[in-house]
Amino acid sequence: MSEDFLWLALEETTSTNTAVRELVMEGRAREIVCWARRQTQGRGRLGRSWLSPEGGLYFSWAVPVGGLLPTWLQPLAGMAVLDVLDAEDGDFGLKWPNDILVRFEEDGDVVERKMGGILSEYLPNSPQGPHVIVGIGLNLNKQVMLLPEDLAKHAMPPASLAEVTGKSYEAEEIACSLSHALRQRFLPLQGEQMEQATKDLHAAWSKRCWTLGRKVRILRPNGDVLEGDAVGIGEDLSLQVKDAVGVIHAVAAGDCRHARLVG
Ligand code: BTN
Repeated sequence: MSEDFLWLALEETTSTNTAVRELVMEGRAREIVCWARRQTQGRGRLGRSWLSPEGGLYFSWAVPVGGLLPTWLQPLAGMAVLDVLDAEDGDFGLKWPNDILVRFEEDGDVVERKMGGILSEYLPNSPQGPHVIVGIGLNLNKQVMLLPEDLAKHAMPPASLAEVTGKSYEAEEIACSLSHALRQRFLPLQGEQMEQATKDLHAAWSKRCWTLGRKVRILRPNGDVLEGDAVGIGEDLSLQVKDAVGVIHAVAAGDCRHARLVG
């Protein structure tokens, strides 16, 4: 039997994205949220694994996209995560295309750390119409101990929300807030105001995307490296990078590194 909305809270699963994908493909519900306290086979972007021990939130939302281009779910998810984090004391932002960052002062320097990431997947052929699965991993209470060699190794070293705010978090509460924020952000993207709503989302996302205005190094999926200044985000959500001779490249996918912050 199919339901309209399914909420699944798990102690442990392989991957919440995989769990909801199976349920969507079985036609179990139109919309599904699944969150877990641990994952044994968490997946990240570009085929990487996502370490998922206790202390994080591992969350997936499957939603029918209707006439909306599936790529819009990516900025929507980033903004929904910020809606939740902005209630906390900290300076939170995004790295193109889908990292959740925090900035704070450490030994007199302003540093940026990765607090979470988003992995969205498109299911064009699910029984109840095309769905997108938005998977969100957030470091809530994890103790992230960084050694100097770790700092050098990571494109963006990790941090957790608890380390930044000094508080501890209950995963279920954050999962509820996140589900609410995602659904609120999704409302204007359905129906007649869709076009205006995508423009508003583009503007809001660009404002919170710390990649813009920075020197970046992009590793493209084919292995090519592009270095330059991130000067804009296209209507198709590609990152516009101006190279050393002034040519602007539209980057649709890749791994993006920010140059270090100074001051
Ligand atoms: C990234 O590479 O930065 C994206 C990481 C996304 C991880 C989340 S955790 C919940 C969901 N289930 C998964 O297996 N991956 C996503």
